[in-house]
Amino acid sequence: MRVIFIGPPGAGKGTQAQRLWKHLAVPHISTGDLLREAVRKRTPEGLQAERHMNQGSLVPDSVIIEMVNQRLDDGGCDSGCLFDGFPRTVDQAQALDALLAERRQPLDVVIELAVDEDTLVGRLIGRGRDDDEPAVIRQRFRTYHQLTEPVLDYYRRRGILETVDGAGTPDEVFARIQEAVERIQNKARCSNS
Ligand code: AP5
Ligand code: MG
Repeated sequence: MRVIFIGPPGAGKGTQAQRLWKHLAVPHISTGDLLREAVRKRTPEGLQAERHMNQGSLVPDSVIIEMVNQRLDDGGCDSGCLFDGFPRTVDQAQALDALLAERRQPLDVVIELAVDEDTLVGRLIGRGRDDDEPAVIRQRFRTYHQLTEPVLDYYRRRGILETVDGAGTPDEVFARIQEAVERIQNKARCSNS
């Protein structure tokens, strides 16, 4: 199965992808984690990305698309993968379509994790990552509304968007995600039979 997790900062994309990864046994591809690793290693991409990440803006599409292309080439994704934090712009979504079409790997479902902003701020302040500082959190939300919300429409129009309530405990949210995934799997079985 190929799944995209999309949602505002702190929605639980990483937390839930970790759980679903274990459940489906397919790789978890988090562009945020890949970028943080590149920053730690001081690679040219990392040095370019760091400034954007510290400001709560997006790293240029070209850098991200090449990073994902490389990750897909590294292998392990033939039977599926979980994308976390990617795509984040309509251009990235179109580029992902092309990357998957080249590999004949269809996308199954896009899971939007919906959580109210006060809850999100509480979660992020409690975590304390480098970009979890109040001014940067506010900018990350602005970036999400402006550039990433249009990606929801892109997938809604295609009929593969599932919106899941991301409030409650991680176990409660995961149970809702499993239901959504099962729904999609049953739908695929019905259309194949
Ligand atoms: P990224 O790393 O993707 O960060 P983000 O989207 O801001 O999201 P977070 O990782 O903060 O939140 P999450 O939804 O994963 O929630 P989590 O599970 O951690 O991106 C960082 C930066 O990299 C971007 O700002 C951008 O600059 C750059 N970037 C990345 N991808 C890019 C792309 N495709 N294009 C361009 N630039 C890109 O949970 C958050 C906290 O809440 C944790 O402490 C967790 O334990 C807790 N929590 C989770 N679920 C629950 C729950 N149900 N109840 C209580 N607490 C919970
Ligand atoms: Mg994350």
